[in-house]
Amino acid sequence: MQGVLPTLQILAWVILALLGLFIVVQTVIRLVRHFTHFPSPPFVPYLINNPIRRRFSPPGRVIDYMDIHEGMTILEVGPGTGFYTFEAARRAGAWGHVYAVDIEPKVTAVLDQRIVEAGAKNITTRVASAYEIPLQKNSVDRALMVAVLPEIPDKHRALGEIQRVLKKQGLLALAEVLIDPDYPFRKTEIGWCTDTGFELVGDYGSFFFYTLIFRSTDEPPPEEELRSSGTHAAASTDIWASFVLATSA
Ligand SMILES: C[S@@+](CC[C@H](N)C(=O)[O-])C[C@H]1O[C@@H](n2cnc3c(N)ncnc32)[C@H](O)[C@@H]1O
Repeated sequence: MQGVLPTLQILAWVILALLGLFIVVQTVIRLVRHFTHFPSPPFVPYLINNPIRRRFSPPGRVIDYMDIHEGMTILEVGPGTGFYTFEAARRAGAWGHVYAVDIEPKVTAVLDQRIVEAGAKNITTRVASAYEIPLQKNSVDRALMVAVLPEIPDKHRALGEIQRVLKKQGLLALAEVLIDPDYPFRKTEIGWCTDTGFELVGDYGSFFFYTLIFRSTDEPPPEEELRSSGTHAAASTDIWASFVLATSA
């Protein structure tokens, strides 16, 4: 018993020290992020696509709420290395398609590699900004952003762009996790979306990890001039191909 007590004390101190370090690091990052917005460094999406996350927070926990049916067209903005992408593609099936748009080329290269390794034929990536999604208006059934919207400086502009590409009555899923230094309160994120013409139709999860489902209510805005941000992956279906044709003309 006498030997056990000091060991427990040391363990308690180690846990306290780790907790303290975590709180200090989180506070510093949150302060920096409060004043400056920039995309996560490429190592972040790589690090967070790991077996521990998969075990405790499997991708289905968000995808389940999206009401994805076979044959649907899905847009994922900020997929990172694909933590949710493959599950969305699996639900959309061989006749459906996932368009994965990320601003970071290095992250997209990793996702491309994983797509090849998995032999997934229904996922296409593109390096592009959320402000200029290289898809035609009114072309997708579902849109997904996990831990992405808060790190985009102009939320309304990004959401307006999602409104443009979503079909009327299409659904947008947003999920946020407390550990993310950009984590916004539910109320804040709901405000961004309702300001942009989305209607909240689902609210799931806890304070630590929540998923919000919105329905697109607005008619898509008139077609804007679209600009390509890269030619990362080969165009694979009509909506993507016609965008490429339109810009290369
Ligand atoms: C924190 S990571 C989340 C990755 C993934 N959704 C996940 O949950 O594993 C944020 C991702 O959003 C991307 N991103 C940030 N700003 C963006 C923008 N303006 N347009 C497109 N993607 C963006 C980053 O490159 C990064 O891959």
